Amino acid sequence: MSSKKRDYRDIVLQIDSELSKVQDADILLEHILIEARHVLNADAGTIYVREGDQLVFKYSQNTTLEKRLPPGQKLPYSNMRMPIDDSRLAGYAAKNRVPVRIDDAYSIPADKPYKFNPSFDKQNNWKTRSILAYPLITSTGNLLGVIQVLNAMNEDGDAIPFTAGDEKIFEHFASSATDALERAFMTRAIILRMNRMAEMRDPKETGAHVNRVAGYAAEIYDRWAFNRGIGDKERERTKDTLKMAAMLHDVGKVAISDLILKKPARFTPEEYKVMQAHTCFGARLFVDPQSELDIISAEVALRHHENWDGTGYPGMVDIWSDDPYAAPLECGPDGGPRKLKGEEIPLGGRIVAVADVYDALISKRVYKEPWDSGKVLDEIRAMSGTKFDPEIVTAFFEVLPRIEEIRSRYPDLEAEEKRPPLEIKACG
Ligand SMILES: [Fe+2]
Ligand SMILES: [Fe+2]
Repeated sequence: MSSKKRDYRDIVLQIDSELSKVQDADILLEHILIEARHVLNADAGTIYVREGDQLVFKYSQNTTLEKRLPPGQKLPYSNMRMPIDDSRLAGYAAKNRVPVRIDDAYSIPADKPYKFNPSFDKQNNWKTRSILAYPLITSTGNLLGVIQVLNAMNEDGDAIPFTAGDEKIFEHFASSATDALERAFMTRAIILRMNRMAEMRDPKETGAHVNRVAGYAAEIYDRWAFNRGIGDKERERTKDTLKMAAMLHDVGKVAISDLILKKPARFTPEEYKVMQAHTCFGARLFVDPQSELDIISAEVALRHHENWDGTGYPGMVDIWSDDPYAAPLECGPDGGPRKLKGEEIPLGGRIVAVADVYDALISKRVYKEPWDSGKVLDEIRAMSGTKFDPEIVTAFFEVLPRIEEIRSRYPDLEAEEKRPPLEIKACG
Protein backbone atom coordinates (compact mmCIF):
# COMPACT_ATOMS: atom_id res chain seq x y z
CA MET A 1 0.00 0.00 0.00
CA SER A 2 1.41 3.38 -0.90
CA SER A 3 2.08 5.90 1.87
CA LYS A 4 -0.58 8.19 0.35
CA LYS A 5 -3.19 5.42 0.69
CA ARG A 6 -2.10 4.66 4.25
CA ASP A 7 -2.47 8.33 5.07
CA TYR A 8 -5.98 8.29 3.64
CA ARG A 9 -6.95 5.28 5.75
CA ASP A 10 -5.63 6.97 8.90
CA ILE A 11 -7.51 10.12 8.01
CA VAL A 12 -10.76 8.20 7.44
CA LEU A 13 -10.41 6.44 10.81
CA GLN A 14 -9.69 9.73 12.51
CA ILE A 15 -12.68 11.33 10.81
CA ASP A 16 -14.89 8.52 12.04
CA SER A 17 -13.96 9.30 15.64
CA GLU A 18 -14.12 13.09 15.11
CA LEU A 19 -17.59 12.95 13.56
CA SER A 20 -18.93 10.66 16.26
CA LYS A 21 -18.25 13.41 18.86
CA VAL A 22 -20.45 16.03 17.20
CA GLN A 23 -24.09 15.90 18.28
CA ASP A 24 -25.84 18.81 16.63
CA ALA A 25 -26.94 18.12 13.05
CA ASP A 26 -26.09 21.57 11.61
CA ILE A 27 -22.65 21.67 13.21
CA LEU A 28 -22.06 18.11 12.05
CA LEU A 29 -22.92 19.05 8.47
CA GLU A 30 -20.36 21.85 8.62
CA HIS A 31 -17.78 19.41 10.04
CA ILE A 32 -18.48 16.78 7.41
CA LEU A 33 -17.82 19.34 4.72
CA ILE A 34 -14.57 20.51 6.37
CA GLU A 35 -13.34 16.91 6.71
CA ALA A 36 -14.43 15.93 3.18
CA ARG A 37 -12.45 18.82 1.75
CA HIS A 38 -9.51 17.97 3.97
CA VAL A 39 -9.43 14.30 2.97
CA LEU A 40 -9.48 15.13 -0.76
CA ASN A 41 -7.56 18.41 -0.54
CA ALA A 42 -10.45 20.25 -2.22
CA ASP A 43 -10.54 24.04 -2.39
CA ALA A 44 -14.31 24.23 -1.96
CA GLY A 45 -17.44 22.25 -1.25
CA THR A 46 -21.16 22.30 -0.59
CA ILE A 47 -23.43 20.10 1.47
CA TYR A 48 -27.14 19.62 0.80
CA VAL A 49 -29.82 17.96 2.91
CA ARG A 50 -32.89 16.26 1.44
CA GLU A 51 -36.25 17.76 2.36
CA GLY A 52 -39.03 15.86 0.59
CA ASP A 53 -38.21 15.84 -3.12
CA GLN A 54 -35.76 18.72 -2.91
CA LEU A 55 -32.15 19.27 -1.92
CA VAL A 56 -31.67 22.18 0.46
CA PHE A 57 -28.30 23.88 0.44
CA LYS A 58 -26.88 23.89 3.98
CA TYR A 59 -23.23 24.95 3.94
CA SER A 60 -20.72 26.14 1.43
CA GLN A 61 -17.02 26.51 2.06
CA ASN A 62 -14.36 27.92 -0.20
CA THR A 63 -10.78 28.40 1.00
CA THR A 64 -9.86 30.85 -1.77
CA LEU A 65 -12.91 33.06 -1.15
CA GLU A 66 -12.65 32.80 2.65
CA LYS A 67 -9.08 34.16 2.46
CA ARG A 68 -10.57 37.35 1.01
CA LEU A 69 -12.81 37.87 4.11
CA PRO A 70 -11.77 39.65 7.35
CA PRO A 71 -10.50 37.26 10.09
CA GLY A 72 -13.23 35.36 11.97
CA GLN A 73 -15.86 35.90 9.23
CA LYS A 74 -17.48 33.13 7.22
CA LEU A 75 -19.24 32.94 3.86
CA PRO A 76 -22.95 33.74 4.21
CA TYR A 77 -25.65 31.10 4.52
CA SER A 78 -27.96 30.56 1.59
CA ASN A 79 -31.49 29.21 1.41
CA MET A 80 -31.11 27.85 -2.12
CA ARG A 81 -32.90 24.61 -2.95
CA MET A 82 -33.04 22.44 -6.06
CA PRO A 83 -35.30 19.62 -7.24
CA ILE A 84 -34.02 16.05 -7.02
CA ASP A 85 -33.95 15.47 -10.77
CA ASP A 86 -31.45 15.14 -13.60
CA SER A 87 -31.10 18.85 -14.42
CA ARG A 88 -28.37 19.71 -11.89
CA LEU A 89 -25.36 17.72 -10.84
CA ALA A 90 -26.19 17.30 -7.12
CA GLY A 91 -29.84 16.55 -7.98
CA TYR A 92 -28.70 13.88 -10.45
CA ALA A 93 -26.41 12.25 -7.84
CA ALA A 94 -29.35 12.23 -5.39
CA LYS A 95 -32.00 10.96 -7.82
CA ASN A 96 -29.87 8.20 -9.33
CA ARG A 97 -28.02 7.49 -6.05
CA VAL A 98 -24.66 7.49 -7.81
CA PRO A 99 -21.46 9.52 -7.36
CA VAL A 100 -20.74 12.00 -10.13
CA ARG A 101 -17.16 12.93 -11.02
CA ILE A 102 -16.44 15.75 -13.45
CA ASP A 103 -12.93 16.75 -14.57
CA ASP A 104 -13.88 20.14 -15.94
CA ALA A 105 -17.19 21.84 -15.09
CA TYR A 106 -17.00 23.92 -18.29
CA SER A 107 -16.71 20.92 -20.61
CA ILE A 108 -19.40 18.53 -19.40
CA PRO A 109 -20.16 16.15 -22.32
CA ALA A 110 -23.31 17.11 -24.20
CA ASP A 111 -24.88 13.67 -23.66
CA LYS A 112 -25.09 14.23 -19.88
CA PRO A 113 -28.54 15.35 -18.67
CA TYR A 114 -27.17 17.77 -16.05
CA LYS A 115 -25.72 21.20 -16.66
CA PHE A 116 -23.24 23.28 -14.70
CA ASN A 117 -24.50 26.70 -13.56
CA PRO A 118 -21.63 29.23 -13.78
CA SER A 119 -23.45 32.09 -11.99
CA PHE A 120 -21.66 31.53 -8.62
CA ASP A 121 -18.27 31.63 -10.38
CA LYS A 122 -19.17 34.86 -12.17
CA GLN A 123 -20.49 36.59 -9.04
CA ASN A 124 -17.48 35.63 -6.94
CA ASN A 125 -14.59 35.83 -9.38
CA TRP A 126 -13.73 32.18 -8.83
CA LYS A 127 -13.54 29.25 -11.24
CA THR A 128 -14.96 25.77 -10.66
CA ARG A 129 -12.97 23.04 -12.35
CA SER A 130 -13.23 19.53 -10.95
CA ILE A 131 -16.33 18.28 -9.11
CA LEU A 132 -17.10 15.15 -7.08
CA ALA A 133 -20.67 14.78 -5.80
CA TYR A 134 -21.63 11.91 -3.52
CA PRO A 135 -25.09 10.94 -2.23
CA LEU A 136 -25.40 10.29 1.53
CA ILE A 137 -27.53 7.15 1.84
CA THR A 138 -28.18 5.27 5.10
CA SER A 139 -27.88 1.49 5.47
CA THR A 140 -31.69 1.31 5.22
CA GLY A 141 -31.67 3.19 1.91
CA ASN A 142 -32.77 6.61 3.17
CA LEU A 143 -31.26 9.48 1.18
CA LEU A 144 -30.07 12.15 3.67
CA GLY A 145 -28.41 14.54 1.24
CA VAL A 146 -25.50 15.12 -1.09
CA ILE A 147 -21.97 16.25 -0.44
CA GLN A 148 -20.12 17.93 -3.26
CA VAL A 149 -16.42 18.88 -3.30
CA LEU A 150 -14.89 21.21 -5.86
CA ASN A 151 -11.40 21.72 -7.26
CA ALA A 152 -8.91 19.13 -6.02
CA MET A 153 -5.66 21.02 -5.44
CA ASN A 154 -2.16 19.79 -6.26
CA GLU A 155 0.91 20.75 -4.21
CA ASP A 156 1.40 23.91 -6.29
CA GLY A 157 -2.14 25.08 -5.48
CA ASP A 158 -3.50 24.37 -8.98
CA ALA A 159 -6.94 22.81 -9.50
CA ILE A 160 -6.69 19.25 -10.85
CA PRO A 161 -9.27 16.48 -11.48
CA PHE A 162 -10.41 14.12 -8.71
CA THR A 163 -9.24 10.54 -9.35
CA ALA A 164 -11.01 7.16 -9.21
CA GLY A 165 -8.98 6.57 -5.99
CA ASP A 166 -10.42 9.76 -4.52
CA GLU A 167 -13.89 8.47 -5.31
CA LYS A 168 -13.14 5.22 -3.45
CA ILE A 169 -11.90 7.15 -0.39
CA PHE A 170 -15.03 9.26 -0.54
CA GLU A 171 -17.17 6.15 -0.43
CA HIS A 172 -15.75 5.29 3.05
CA PHE A 173 -15.98 8.87 4.15
CA ALA A 174 -19.61 9.19 3.03
CA SER A 175 -20.51 6.07 4.98
CA SER A 176 -19.01 7.46 8.26
CA ALA A 177 -20.64 10.82 7.60
CA THR A 178 -24.04 9.23 6.95
CA ASP A 179 -23.93 7.21 10.20
CA ALA A 180 -23.00 10.29 12.23
CA LEU A 181 -25.65 12.37 10.50
CA GLU A 182 -28.38 9.81 11.06
CA ARG A 183 -27.56 9.83 14.81
CA ALA A 184 -27.54 13.62 14.92
CA PHE A 185 -30.90 13.86 13.11
CA MET A 186 -32.31 11.42 15.67
CA THR A 187 -30.97 13.45 18.63
CA ARG A 188 -32.42 16.61 17.12
CA ALA A 189 -35.78 14.88 16.59
CA ILE A 190 -35.88 13.88 20.28
CA ILE A 191 -35.01 17.41 21.43
CA LEU A 192 -37.67 18.85 19.12
CA ARG A 193 -40.22 16.38 20.51
CA MET A 194 -39.38 17.51 24.04
CA ASN A 195 -39.98 21.02 22.81
CA ARG A 196 -43.21 20.06 21.11
CA MET A 197 -44.45 18.95 24.53
CA ALA A 198 -43.59 22.40 25.86
CA GLU A 199 -45.22 23.98 22.80
CA MET A 200 -48.46 22.10 23.45
CA ARG A 201 -48.53 23.84 26.82
CA ASP A 202 -47.21 27.23 25.70
CA PRO A 203 -47.85 28.02 22.02
CA LYS A 204 -45.27 30.88 22.14
CA GLU A 205 -42.44 28.35 22.36
CA THR A 206 -42.61 27.11 18.79
CA GLY A 207 -40.19 24.76 17.08
CA ALA A 208 -39.12 27.63 14.82
CA HIS A 209 -38.42 29.87 17.86
CA VAL A 210 -36.20 27.27 19.58
CA ASN A 211 -34.33 26.50 16.34
CA ARG A 212 -33.68 30.21 15.86
CA VAL A 213 -32.59 30.83 19.47
CA ALA A 214 -30.26 27.82 19.26
CA GLY A 215 -28.76 29.04 15.97
CA TYR A 216 -28.24 32.59 17.32
CA ALA A 217 -26.69 31.26 20.55
CA ALA A 218 -24.19 29.11 18.62
CA GLU A 219 -23.14 32.05 16.42
CA ILE A 220 -22.83 34.46 19.36
CA TYR A 221 -20.77 31.95 21.35
CA ASP A 222 -18.52 31.28 18.35
CA ARG A 223 -17.72 34.97 17.97
CA TRP A 224 -17.33 35.55 21.72
CA ALA A 225 -14.88 32.62 21.90
CA PHE A 226 -13.01 33.86 18.82
CA ASN A 227 -12.67 37.31 20.43
CA ARG A 228 -11.32 35.66 23.59
CA GLY A 229 -8.78 33.61 21.61
CA ILE A 230 -10.32 30.25 22.55
CA GLY A 231 -8.89 27.45 20.37
CA ASP A 232 -10.83 25.93 17.46
CA LYS A 233 -11.39 22.51 19.07
CA GLU A 234 -12.84 23.81 22.33
CA ARG A 235 -14.84 26.39 20.44
CA GLU A 236 -16.42 23.79 18.17
CA ARG A 237 -17.21 21.43 21.04
CA THR A 238 -18.83 24.05 23.25
CA LYS A 239 -20.71 25.57 20.33
CA ASP A 240 -22.18 22.16 19.52
CA THR A 241 -23.28 21.51 23.09
CA LEU A 242 -24.61 25.02 23.70
CA LYS A 243 -26.66 24.90 20.52
CA MET A 244 -28.60 21.86 21.67
CA ALA A 245 -28.90 23.10 25.24
CA ALA A 246 -30.34 26.39 23.94
CA MET A 247 -33.16 24.50 22.21
CA LEU A 248 -34.32 23.35 25.63
CA HIS A 249 -34.19 26.73 27.40
CA ASP A 250 -37.92 26.83 28.20
CA VAL A 251 -38.69 23.12 28.38
CA GLY A 252 -39.53 23.58 32.09
CA LYS A 253 -42.80 25.22 30.97
CA VAL A 254 -44.28 21.72 30.67
CA ALA A 255 -44.71 21.86 34.44
CA ILE A 256 -46.54 25.22 34.58
CA SER A 257 -50.33 25.21 34.86
CA ASP A 258 -52.38 26.06 31.77
CA LEU A 259 -54.30 28.57 33.86
CA ILE A 260 -51.14 30.64 34.03
CA LEU A 261 -49.44 29.78 30.73
CA LYS A 262 -52.51 30.54 28.65
CA LYS A 263 -53.87 33.41 30.71
CA PRO A 264 -55.00 36.10 28.25
CA ALA A 265 -54.37 38.96 30.72
CA ARG A 266 -51.39 40.24 32.70
CA PHE A 267 -50.03 38.01 35.48
CA THR A 268 -50.62 38.92 39.11
CA PRO A 269 -47.35 39.07 41.15
CA GLU A 270 -48.13 35.58 42.52
CA GLU A 271 -48.75 34.15 39.04
CA TYR A 272 -45.54 35.74 37.78
CA LYS A 273 -43.64 33.95 40.55
CA VAL A 274 -45.18 30.62 39.53
CA MET A 275 -44.22 31.31 35.91
CA GLN A 276 -40.64 32.07 36.93
CA ALA A 277 -40.38 28.56 38.36
CA HIS A 278 -40.13 27.19 34.76
CA THR A 279 -36.38 27.81 35.14
CA CYS A 280 -36.22 25.43 38.13
CA PHE A 281 -38.43 22.80 36.50
CA GLY A 282 -36.24 22.91 33.39
CA ALA A 283 -33.09 22.42 35.48
CA ARG A 284 -34.69 19.46 37.27
CA LEU A 285 -34.79 17.54 33.98
CA PHE A 286 -31.00 17.49 33.82
CA VAL A 287 -29.91 16.63 37.35
CA ASP A 288 -27.91 13.43 37.53
CA PRO A 289 -25.96 14.65 34.48
CA GLN A 290 -24.70 12.00 32.05
CA SER A 291 -22.90 14.38 29.72
CA GLU A 292 -21.61 17.90 29.12
CA LEU A 293 -24.89 18.50 27.28
CA ASP A 294 -26.90 17.78 30.46
CA ILE A 295 -24.72 20.18 32.50
CA ILE A 296 -25.03 23.05 30.01
CA SER A 297 -28.75 22.34 29.45
CA ALA A 298 -29.35 22.65 33.20
CA GLU A 299 -27.37 25.93 33.33
CA VAL A 300 -29.23 27.40 30.35
CA ALA A 301 -32.67 26.35 31.63
CA LEU A 302 -31.97 27.74 35.10
CA ARG A 303 -30.09 30.92 34.16
CA HIS A 304 -31.53 32.32 30.92
CA HIS A 305 -33.58 34.94 32.83
CA GLU A 306 -30.72 36.18 35.04
CA ASN A 307 -29.62 39.77 34.37
CA TRP A 308 -26.02 40.97 34.18
CA ASP A 309 -26.72 43.67 36.82
CA GLY A 310 -28.25 41.20 39.29
CA THR A 311 -31.93 42.05 38.75
CA GLY A 312 -33.02 38.81 37.07
CA TYR A 313 -34.34 35.49 38.40
CA PRO A 314 -34.30 32.90 39.92
CA GLY A 315 -31.02 33.57 41.82
CA MET A 316 -29.73 31.14 44.47
CA VAL A 317 -32.81 28.93 44.74
CA ASP A 318 -33.26 25.31 45.69
CA ILE A 319 -34.64 23.91 42.43
CA TRP A 320 -36.36 21.06 44.30
CA SER A 321 -38.35 23.27 46.61
CA ASP A 322 -42.11 23.56 45.96
CA ASP A 323 -41.77 27.26 46.62
CA PRO A 324 -38.21 28.13 45.51
CA TYR A 325 -38.50 31.72 46.71
CA ALA A 326 -39.51 30.76 50.25
CA ALA A 327 -36.49 28.52 50.89
CA PRO A 328 -33.45 30.00 49.09
CA LEU A 329 -30.11 28.23 49.04
CA GLU A 330 -28.56 31.59 49.86
CA CYS A 331 -30.46 34.66 51.04
CA GLY A 332 -30.06 38.15 49.63
CA PRO A 333 -30.59 41.40 51.57
CA ASP A 334 -34.38 41.27 50.97
CA GLY A 335 -34.65 37.78 52.50
CA GLY A 336 -35.32 36.23 49.05
CA PRO A 337 -32.79 34.22 47.03
CA ARG A 338 -29.46 36.01 46.55
CA LYS A 339 -29.28 37.37 43.01
CA LEU A 340 -26.61 36.31 40.55
CA LYS A 341 -24.78 38.95 38.56
CA GLY A 342 -21.94 39.45 36.07
CA GLU A 343 -19.77 36.46 35.25
CA GLU A 344 -21.30 34.56 38.16
CA ILE A 345 -24.11 33.81 35.69
CA PRO A 346 -23.01 30.83 33.56
CA LEU A 347 -21.99 31.79 30.02
CA GLY A 348 -24.78 29.73 28.38
CA GLY A 349 -27.39 31.64 30.40
CA ARG A 350 -25.86 35.01 29.43
CA ILE A 351 -25.82 34.09 25.72
CA VAL A 352 -29.31 32.55 25.53
CA ALA A 353 -30.71 35.60 27.37
CA VAL A 354 -29.69 37.85 24.44
CA ALA A 355 -30.76 35.31 21.78
CA ASP A 356 -34.18 34.72 23.40
CA VAL A 357 -35.03 38.39 23.93
CA TYR A 358 -33.90 39.34 20.40
CA ASP A 359 -36.14 36.64 18.91
CA ALA A 360 -39.11 37.51 21.11
CA LEU A 361 -38.92 41.20 20.15
CA ILE A 362 -38.40 40.71 16.42
CA SER A 363 -41.08 38.00 16.01
CA LYS A 364 -44.84 38.19 16.01
CA ARG A 365 -46.36 36.76 19.15
CA VAL A 366 -50.03 36.28 20.02
CA TYR A 367 -49.87 39.30 22.28
CA LYS A 368 -47.71 41.58 20.08
CA GLU A 369 -46.74 42.53 16.55
CA PRO A 370 -43.07 42.14 15.53
CA TRP A 371 -40.96 45.15 16.38
CA ASP A 372 -39.13 46.99 13.66
CA SER A 373 -35.56 45.67 13.34
CA GLY A 374 -33.91 49.05 14.10
CA LYS A 375 -35.94 49.39 17.30
CA VAL A 376 -35.01 45.84 18.39
CA LEU A 377 -31.31 46.52 17.86
CA ASP A 378 -31.54 49.83 19.77
CA GLU A 379 -33.21 47.97 22.63
CA ILE A 380 -30.50 45.26 22.73
CA ARG A 381 -27.81 47.96 22.69
CA ALA A 382 -29.58 49.89 25.46
CA MET A 383 -29.67 46.79 27.68
CA SER A 384 -25.92 46.12 27.33
CA GLY A 385 -24.43 46.35 30.82
CA THR A 386 -27.81 46.20 32.58
CA LYS A 387 -29.77 43.18 31.40
CA PHE A 388 -27.05 41.77 29.15
CA ASP A 389 -23.32 41.04 29.34
CA PRO A 390 -21.68 43.80 27.21
CA GLU A 391 -19.16 41.38 25.72
CA ILE A 392 -22.00 39.12 24.53
CA VAL A 393 -23.83 42.12 23.03
CA THR A 394 -20.64 43.06 21.14
CA ALA A 395 -20.36 39.50 19.77
CA PHE A 396 -24.08 39.59 18.85
CA PHE A 397 -23.62 42.72 16.72
CA GLU A 398 -20.48 41.30 15.12
CA VAL A 399 -22.42 38.28 13.82
CA LEU A 400 -25.66 40.11 13.06
CA PRO A 401 -25.69 39.23 9.32
CA ARG A 402 -25.53 35.51 10.21
CA ILE A 403 -28.20 35.97 12.88
CA GLU A 404 -30.50 37.52 10.27
CA GLU A 405 -29.82 34.64 7.89
CA ILE A 406 -30.73 32.12 10.61
CA ARG A 407 -33.94 34.05 11.20
CA SER A 408 -34.94 33.67 7.57
CA ARG A 409 -34.03 29.97 7.69
CA TYR A 410 -36.61 29.17 10.38
CA PRO A 411 -39.72 31.26 9.66
CA ASP A 412 -42.78 30.96 11.90
CA LEU A 413 -45.29 28.70 10.21
CA GLU A 414 -49.03 29.12 10.30
CA ALA A 415 -50.79 26.46 12.40
CA GLU A 416 -52.04 24.69 9.24
CA GLU A 417 -48.54 24.41 7.76
CA LYS A 418 -47.29 22.79 10.96
CA ARG A 419 -49.63 19.85 10.56
CA PRO A 420 -48.46 17.43 7.90
CA PRO A 421 -50.99 14.63 7.29
CA LEU A 422 -50.43 11.64 9.55
CA GLU A 423 -50.08 8.55 7.40
CA ILE A 424 -51.23 6.09 10.04
CA LYS A 425 -54.60 4.55 9.18
CA ALA A 426 -57.31 4.56 11.83
CA CYS A 427 -58.56 1.16 13.06
CA GLY A 428 -61.63 -0.52 11.61
FE1 LIG B 1 -37.81 31.26 29.83
FE1 LIG C 1 -37.92 31.39 24.51
